[in-house]
Amino acid sequence: MKRVIQENQNWINETWNKIEKKLSVVSVRSREKLPYTTIEGTHDDKKEKNISWWTNGFWGGMMWLMYEATGNEEFRKTAERSEDLLDGALFQYKKLHHDVGFMWHLTSGANYRLTGNEKSGARNFFAATSLFSRYNISGDFIRAWNKGTWGASTDGYSIIDCLMNLPLLYWASEEVEDERFKKIAMRHMDMAMRDHIREDGSVNHIVNHEVDKVGVVNVLAGQGYSETSCWSRGLAWAVYGSVISYIHTGRESYLEAAKKTANYFIEHCKKTDYLPVIDFAAPDTPVYYDSTAGVCTACGLLEIAKYVSEEKSRYYTEEAIKILKACDKHFCNYEVSEDALVLMGSERYPHTDNAMKGVHIPIIYGDFFFVEAMCKLRGREFLIW
Ligand code: GLY
Repeated sequence: MKRVIQENQNWINETWNKIEKKLSVVSVRSREKLPYTTIEGTHDDKKEKNISWWTNGFWGGMMWLMYEATGNEEFRKTAERSEDLLDGALFQYKKLHHDVGFMWHLTSGANYRLTGNEKSGARNFFAATSLFSRYNISGDFIRAWNKGTWGASTDGYSIIDCLMNLPLLYWASEEVEDERFKKIAMRHMDMAMRDHIREDGSVNHIVNHEVDKVGVVNVLAGQGYSETSCWSRGLAWAVYGSVISYIHTGRESYLEAAKKTANYFIEHCKKTDYLPVIDFAAPDTPVYYDSTAGVCTACGLLEIAKYVSEEKSRYYTEEAIKILKACDKHFCNYEVSEDALVLMGSERYPHTDNAMKGVHIPIIYGDFFFVEAMCKLRGREFLIW
């Protein structure tokens, strides 16, 4: 892994300098916001529109990554402000969902781990208990959404995305020395390997479970093309989420799941020159991209590379760098006067031309994972998850 990084050192340094230059300005400009997308060069703000929105932790999380990597206090100030703003969501407890991990582990959790701030630790623990309470004992899964969220009964829904919320439970388990948090996270991870991750390494996005016993009622397409296809960001959640579970537990089967899903991702992503499409099993045309799937997977590949043979480590690192370079060349915007860093993210597969809203737009977690991947390539050891 080190050798591959050395071979790409010039590109890594140049790219990082552009990121740091841009974000040190945007960080101050958007300090009062919880950005989701960028409209005509300017961050929008979810603070007013939807304080409980699942992505509201990525901006603060990215600021912690930048602070950890640079020591620049301006990044810390924006991260802290973002965490304070999120209190508006913490106390609307009926609107809390399983994505409390994305929201608080990246903000309060990062703050607590980097600075020891007790109030941040308390916020993160509150979020962890909320996630813990979503475990369905009979059905053996963590419930994704609340009643009526999508106009249908969601009592039995688990979604692949939840693998990225599990680090909050692993953290809580260690923090209060209570294995139950970890055990529930592992039960959910085991369920995902059984019901979400398919034999060929592709994934189901939404699984609708029996609620009074273990069993699958049906599978839903969710944000992908169809229930039998493979939504690329869902696959990215599986790649990175599985290796994170491996890191926190040491269970070999989780590393195997990470490799299996990673291999599927790489094989399909290389067909479109390492620019991932929204769904790897959708028709070849029209081509719809999702930059966020690539940068998230690159983070997963760089973690997998730490736990495999030297030969495999080189392979996964090289593949991660190919994805990141393709993103840098085709999708990145380093213009300091504009807020978004990574363009061409997509919320979901558009089934008609009228459904293009939310497709090929900048999305905050694209920026987050691009920055996180570059931090890894620069040797930063802090794992925010
Ligand atoms: N967690 C929802 C998404 O990835 O769009």
